[in-house]
This record gives sequence, C-alpha cells and structure tokens, in this order.
Amino acid sequence: MWQAPIFAAFCLPTSLRSFGFAFLDSVLTCSDTMRLQHLPLAALVASTAAVNLYVSSYTYGEITSLKLSKSANGSYTLTTVATNNGSSPSPTWLEKDKYKDIVYGLDEGFTSPNGSLSSYKTSSSGVLTQIDRHLTLGGPVSSIVYNGGKGLAVAHYGGSALSSWAILETGGVKLLQTFPFTLTAPGTNPARQEAPHLHEALVDPTDSFIISPDLGADLLRVFTIDPKTSVLTPSTDFSTPPGSGPRHGAFLVTPSNTTYFFLVSELGNSVTSYRVTYGDKTLGFEEVFTSGIYGNQTIPDGAAAAEAVLSPDSKYLLTSSRNATLFQIPNFNPNNSTKIPSDTLQSWVIDHKTGKLTFHQLAPAGGSFPRQFSVNKAGTLAAVGLQESARVVIVERDVKDGTFGKFVAEIDVPGEVTSVIWDE
Ligand SMILES: *[C@@H]1O[C@H](CO)[C@@H](O)[C@H](O)[C@H]1NC(C)=O
Ligand SMILES: *[C@@H]1O[C@H](CO)[C@@H](O)[C@H](O)[C@H]1NC(C)=O
Ligand SMILES: *[C@@H]1O[C@H](CO)[C@@H](O)[C@H](O)[C@H]1NC(C)=O
Ligand SMILES: *[C@@H]1O[C@H](CO)[C@@H](O)[C@H](O)[C@H]1NC(C)=O
Ligand SMILES: *[C@@H]1O[C@H](CO)[C@@H](O)[C@H](O)[C@H]1NC(C)=O
Ligand SMILES: *[C@@H]1O[C@H](CO)[C@@H](O)[C@H](O)[C@H]1NC(C)=O
Ligand SMILES: *[C@@H]1O[C@H](CO)[C@@H](O)[C@H](O)[C@H]1NC(C)=O
Ligand SMILES: *[C@@H]1O[C@H](CO)[C@@H](O)[C@H](O)[C@H]1NC(C)=O
Repeated sequence: MWQAPIFAAFCLPTSLRSFGFAFLDSVLTCSDTMRLQHLPLAALVASTAAVNLYVSSYTYGEITSLKLSKSANGSYTLTTVATNNGSSPSPTWLEKDKYKDIVYGLDEGFTSPNGSLSSYKTSSSGVLTQIDRHLTLGGPVSSIVYNGGKGLAVAHYGGSALSSWAILETGGVKLLQTFPFTLTAPGTNPARQEAPHLHEALVDPTDSFIISPDLGADLLRVFTIDPKTSVLTPSTDFSTPPGSGPRHGAFLVTPSNTTYFFLVSELGNSVTSYRVTYGDKTLGFEEVFTSGIYGNQTIPDGAAAAEAVLSPDSKYLLTSSRNATLFQIPNFNPNNSTKIPSDTLQSWVIDHKTGKLTFHQLAPAGGSFPRQFSVNKAGTLAAVGLQESARVVIVERDVKDGTFGKFVAEIDVPGEVTSVIWDE
C-alpha cells in the first residue's frame, strides 16, 4: 500500500516529473484534490515515495513487512516496518488478493502432518491483522485467487493434493474441496518423484480453469471452475516429459487473443512454451518452444530451476534458478571486500506471433536460492527472495529492453526467505 507522503512527491507539476519520477508516474494517478502545487518546492524535494512488501520465511514463524522508500534523489532504502504473528510455524507463500486488501499466507507445516492457510487484512503501516486460519492438508506451497475473487485454490506439495476454498465477505476462507492424488509407481527421478507434488496453483486468463504443475507426476493438472459456486471439477491433464518435474508457470494472452503458457520445470531445468487451445471444458497444450533455463549456457550440475513471471508489459518472461552461483557480486556492505556468490535470474524475449522465446540475459539474483521473486506493477523493480542468503534484494529492470540492472536495495530477513510480494 502506498503511503501518504507519496502524494507530495508524486503530484509535482508535469514539467518537473521528468526528473526521475517516472517510477511514481506509472503507479499512481494524481487527483485534483491531491495537487499540492502551493507547497514550497523544498517540501516536495524532501518527500519520499514508499511501498510495502510482505516476506515469508521458514524458521522464523512470522511474516515480515518491509517498506521500500524512494527519496527524491532516486536512492532507495528498504526497512523492516512490522513483524506479524503469522501463527504458522513454516510460512512458505504469500498472495495479495487483487480484488481486496487481503493477503493469504500458507504455512508448509514442517512440524506437523498439516499445513495451514491464513488470511490477513493489510494496512498502510505494514501491520497485517490475522482474520482467519485453518489447518489444511500437508505441505501447501502456492495459492491463487480465482472466480473473480470468490475462490482460492491451494497446491499441496507435501500433501500431494489440490484444495479449493471459498473466500468469504469477511476475508475469511472456508474449505470447499480437497483432491488428493497418488502415483502407481515412482517417476523417472525416484528421489523427487516418489509421489505427486503439486507445486503451484494458477488460473487461466479466462478465469475458467485452474492449472497445477505437478513436479512428482510430470503433469499439468487441469480443473474447470464452476462460476456460480467456485467448485472445481478435474478435467483432462497434460503430460510433460518424464522426469521434467514441472514447477511454476505463467500465462500470456496476446493482443490477437492467442494464449500461451510458459512452464519452468525444476528437475529438467527447462523453460517450455505451449500454445493453449480451449475445448469444451478442456485445455489443449501444444509445445512450440523449449530450452535449458540457462539459455546458451550449459546447465550446471545441481541446478534447480524455480520461478516464472511474465513482465507486466507481457513482452518478457522472467525466470530464476537455484544452486548454481555463476556470479560473484560485490558485498552489499561496502566495508566488506568479500564478494557474494550469486545464483541467477534469466530474461527471455517473447515472440507474440509464435510463442517462442529468445534468451536475452543471465543476471545475478543477489545471493543464493532465488526461490521466488515478484515484479512491481510498473515492471521497473523486481523483489527477489533469497532463501539460503536470508535476504531480500530489489533489482532494477529496464522496461524498454527487458534486462535486469543494478541492485538498488537489500535487507537481511531472518530464516529462509520463501516469498516476497508487493502491496501496491
Ligand atoms: C539521497 O537521499 C537520501 C535520503 O534523503 C540520502 O540518505 C542519500 O545519501 C542521498 N544520496 C545521494 C547520492 O545524494
Ligand atoms: C501468535 O498467535 C497465536 C494465535 O493467536 C498465539 O497462540 C501465539 O501465542 C502468538 N504468538 C506470539 C509470539 O505472539
Ligand atoms: C491433517 O492431516 C491429516 C493427515 O494427512 C489429514 O487426514 C487431515 O484431513 C488433515 N486435516 C485437515 C484439516 O486438512
Ligand atoms: C479470447 O479467447 C478466449 C479463449 O478462447 C475466449 O474465451 C474469449 O472470448 C476470446 N476473446 C475475444 C475478445 O475474442
Ligand atoms: C546443489 O548442487 C550440488 C551439486 O553441485 C548437489 O550436490 C546438492 O545436492 C545441490 N543442493 C541442493 C539443495 O539441491
Ligand atoms: C562502514 O564503515 C564506515 C566507517 O567506519 C561506517 O561509518 C559505516 O557505518 C560502515 N557501513 C556499514 C554498512 O557497516
Ligand atoms: C563479509 O562478507 C562475507 C560474505 O557475505 C561474510 O561471510 C563475512 O562474515 C563478512 N565479514 C564481516 C567482517 O562482516
Ligand atoms: C548468450 O546470450 C547472451 C544474451 O543474448 C549474449 O549476450 C551472449 O553473447 C551469448 N553467449 C554466447 C556464448 O553465445
């Protein structure tokens, strides 16, 4: 949530806005009542813009709220503004409801057979107030709001299941369904594919289907959504290559209404584009492109591909990969000359006509295990959660050429960081 002082910085006369305020321009609009042009210029220059981010981390049992401030000279600072009692031992995933001021938090529940799902009211101070909490099937790792904000689907990695929940008026949630899955025999990678492991819940762009990449079963599991009740019905699944271990994905609808699905597979360390076709209560996936996640570089031993994010302008696919420190970056503490080993982010140019990707950039992620990252609405900044470095970094993006740039802010967050999201 953007905070009050921003108005002073943002509502500059148009003539002044070109001096480094593009970041602000693209996220807020200025109403007449907010115009503060009668303020002395000094007051405007001293003011800052700020946005809250929420961070989940294992071992800490809490959700950390950060504030990213941009001062008038263009420098950023990241500070902790609240630690919230998540009442959850192993926070693993956060999702901001795009329809209301609610955050859903999942707890992987390493200390019990069950995980949990909580909802929180957000606030401009960054304090999260818990509204509801329910025990769930084990190992929830990803959620998605669907059906116009009336349903929430949860992927359970440890529990080999998908669950669906009704979102109540109060911001609370109520269990609708659970779909447990089994394997008749282990997959190609028996150490990781001994059971189904649903790794993400996604909704298709028409809000009619839930898709869940199942790392253990090498499947994209597909469900139809009943728009009246939010109830899900299993549809026809799509098989990915044996041993590929599908993990995370992102949809794109082009201006000519072609739908593509980009899939990052953890075990195969690959990124694949599919052209998606709509049938009668089914989805078709036609592969149009595949590549190793490191593009024109050899996949390092031990690498584990992780995240897939579509840039807000839909021109680039952004991905991350873990356990291969191909970069050594300057220490974030300027007094410390020891370099920091860094895993990688990747940027890919999307050809909207074909769905094919062109490898564009391999960039440092800011530390070890960029398990998850998210991009602000303007597409100018990415917040990266570095699980093994116990750190969140903010990296600049050049919106025009789609490359990641320099690190503009960083902060240590205790525990293993599992997700970081923007509240804009
Ligand atoms: C920019 O402003 C911030 C706070 O207002 C200050 O801490 C920082 O030193 C300034 N940076 C430069 C390069 O002037
Ligand atoms: C967090 O909240 C739970 C449930 O309300 C409570 O049992 C627990 O004591 C609280 N923990 C802390 C550290 O406040
Ligand atoms: C808790 O886990 C057990 C064992 O998997 C399961 O049978 C039970 O349904 C779970 N409870 C909830 C509320 O999901
Ligand atoms: C775009 O395609 C989807 C899926 O086939 C369809 O539901 C939707 O009506 C189409 N939109 C337009 C504007 O053609
Ligand atoms: C990281 O890669 C090494 C091989 O380079 C492997 O031995 C290790 O198990 C991997 N670690 C994880 C957590 O995947
Ligand atoms: C670096 O050293 C200078 C001089 O001792 C000190 O003022 C500054 O606080 C130090 N910075 C950090 C990040 O430790
Ligand atoms: C300097 O940075 C390295 C790498 O992050 C760290 O291991 C080391 O403890 C730091 N040294 C000091 C004096 O803080
Ligand atoms: C790999 O791709 C990047 C990005 O397109 C390019 O800058 C680089 O030169 C390529 N390297 C090789 C060895 O082809």
